[in-house]
Amino acid sequence: MTSSTADLWHHYGCARATRDRTVPATFSWSWGQDTGPGPEVLGHLTGRCVGDLGAGTARHAAHLAVHHQPAEVTAVDASPAQHAMATDLYAHLAPRLRIVQSDAVSHLRAMPGAYDALYSVFGAVDFTDPRELLPAAATSLKPGGHLVFATLAHYLSGTPAQPDAVAADIPAKTPDGEATTMRRWVLQEHVWTKLLDEAGFTNITIDVLPATNSGPRTADTLLVSAYHPS
Ligand SMILES: C[S@@+](CC[C@H](N)C(=O)[O-])C[C@H]1O[C@@H](n2cnc3c(N)ncnc32)[C@H](O)[C@@H]1O
Repeated sequence: MTSSTADLWHHYGCARATRDRTVPATFSWSWGQDTGPGPEVLGHLTGRCVGDLGAGTARHAAHLAVHHQPAEVTAVDASPAQHAMATDLYAHLAPRLRIVQSDAVSHLRAMPGAYDALYSVFGAVDFTDPRELLPAAATSLKPGGHLVFATLAHYLSGTPAQPDAVAADIPAKTPDGEATTMRRWVLQEHVWTKLLDEAGFTNITIDVLPATNSGPRTADTLLVSAYHPS
């Protein structure tokens, strides 16, 4: 039986981390990381406190730290493996980049009013109960703060997103390669809008970024933007 504490992100991004140690020159929200708008969606970042929720190896956060002069970007990830890789790749970008190993909900609840902007690129927002994560994000944003996230517009199989706030069990692997599952929230636009509204967000907009190529495991992206009231 699989331990519930196994790091199901142990293998993610390992291959790239061994061959590519660069700070990415670009920042993309799309599933294919190849098109669409960039960090300008987050607004003016100079001197701002920004948080990446489910940052993985912190490539997006490293890009912001190097190219956008924030006061601080905090790259939060719960996975010990992702935290270790992010630290190995980008610890030298401190203090502008801060790499934190934590569950996003716990981190946000412990940091009321700390952030000007929070974002997730297929990160914690996709893998955490939104009825916990979105209110915690609202708590952690300053008045007028901005939340932006990229999430799947449909399952990678092509199956439509859920019409209600329910998760699906998707395939995953334990560190020793055993097959297991993890929960992923793939929700229709109106469901995200309702959840964000219930969490106290305003000015909610959702754009669809179409996949640029076809084939298995390509996907359209929902790019969701919402504000904490001023
Ligand atoms: C698909 S990866 C995306 C990583 C990164 N954003 C990227 O674009 O490369 C999802 C990441 O979210 C992290 N994650 C999932 N749920 C989380 C939570 N509740 N708190 C913190 N990190 C979480 C996982 O550990 C994993 O590194």
